[in-house]
Amino acid sequence: MTQFFKPTRTNHGQRVAYTNARLIDPESGLDVKGGGLLTEGNKIADFGEKLFNNGTPDGAEVVDCGGHILCPGLLDIQVHFREPGQEYKETIESGSKSAAAGGVTTVATMPNTKPVVDDITVLAFLQKRAIETGYVNIRPYAAITKGQKGDELTEMAMLVEAGACGFTDDGLPVMNAQIMRQALTMGAALGVPIAQHAEDHNLSCGGCMNEGWVATKLGLKGIPNVSEAVIVARDILLAELTGAQYHVLHISTKEAIDLVRLAKKKGLRVTAEAAPHHFVLNDEAVIDYRTFSKMNPPLRAEIDRQAVIEGLMDGTIDAIATDHAPHDTESKRVTMDLAAFGIVGLETMLSLSLDLVHSGKMSMRDVLAAMTYKPADIIHADAGRLKKGAPADLTLIDPNHSWTIKNEELHSKSKNSPFDGRTLKGRALRTVVGGETVYAHG
Ligand code: DOR
Repeated sequence: MTQFFKPTRTNHGQRVAYTNARLIDPESGLDVKGGGLLTEGNKIADFGEKLFNNGTPDGAEVVDCGGHILCPGLLDIQVHFREPGQEYKETIESGSKSAAAGGVTTVATMPNTKPVVDDITVLAFLQKRAIETGYVNIRPYAAITKGQKGDELTEMAMLVEAGACGFTDDGLPVMNAQIMRQALTMGAALGVPIAQHAEDHNLSCGGCMNEGWVATKLGLKGIPNVSEAVIVARDILLAELTGAQYHVLHISTKEAIDLVRLAKKKGLRVTAEAAPHHFVLNDEAVIDYRTFSKMNPPLRAEIDRQAVIEGLMDGTIDAIATDHAPHDTESKRVTMDLAAFGIVGLETMLSLSLDLVHSGKMSMRDVLAAMTYKPADIIHADAGRLKKGAPADLTLIDPNHSWTIKNEELHSKSKNSPFDGRTLKGRALRTVVGGETVYAHG
């Protein structure tokens, strides 16, 4: 049975003792069985192998973790909640429930709402709704350019002061190099990341899937790899020039990953994230004109899928993030060229990512690192670590729990997942935000 609990955010001193846990803290490398963790109010009070050897504290609620993994709450730093403007696709409430069900305690939201998050009033609205209706922590990105039109910077300093965690025009690239240079300069001064949807629109030329043999066979227009790579190459040069923190959203091509690897070797402040669909699927998933496999950047060739896995393995790709993009049936049940780009991902991120562990490609520590402290560092969030005094955001994971994805059972308002019917191993059993359980399974 699945249960959600609305966070009260008034949890001042209540103590919860998590016993019998495999405690994993990806940053420090802690991995102990039979461990305990104590939360007090919204903070982690203590944790360790022997914490409850003399019993749990009087008055504390006890949660037996059943030997499962208790780790820092997961982050997904690339999600689209459609509020304001397209609440029929997703609201902050439904999207954050979907996050909680996926074990995610902090999301960074993309600003391509209607209206765009390009001034402090829209940002304030979002923050208010996040407190009123959200189940998890919500860190909004603001837009780089007004209306995401690409030609005039937003009031970036004011937006940072009001709580924007960074800037992006995601959904759209910043095509103008001069505007991008200015944004990076401002980002460097303000100490926040500038995140790019790396796509040269002229090279994409209206394509609706990956350029390659599948597109040729289907008679569809393709988006070439170079469309992503030229923007990443340009931006890395600009990041070097400005000293900015530059982040590549949903990286998908071998060429762009190679560029990020080189930038890191040079010591530049360049990071990248990849979405599970880009390391689980390739463009053959689009055969049969499956619009549920249409997203931007598109599913790429097998060589790119392998490159994403290698990028995650060697740390070139810092984070796993879903690009959770809810779309209603009407937007998807049309021809490939007309269908909306995007798939939902919050509820399947953890399980799909754990396959990298089950298949022996990556360690549990490294996979969890890509969903905890590493994405936290990209958006400068106080999250993703087991530390005394840190926010009590936690995820309890059974890595071996087998379950089958059924789209109609997803908690997102939109059901556009290409993974319907797929059986996966591993899931979140409990999600704790600020010391309060917001989701429990089973
Ligand atoms: O597939 C996508 N969908 N890619 C994006 O960059 C935007 C997103 C959306 O907003 O639906």
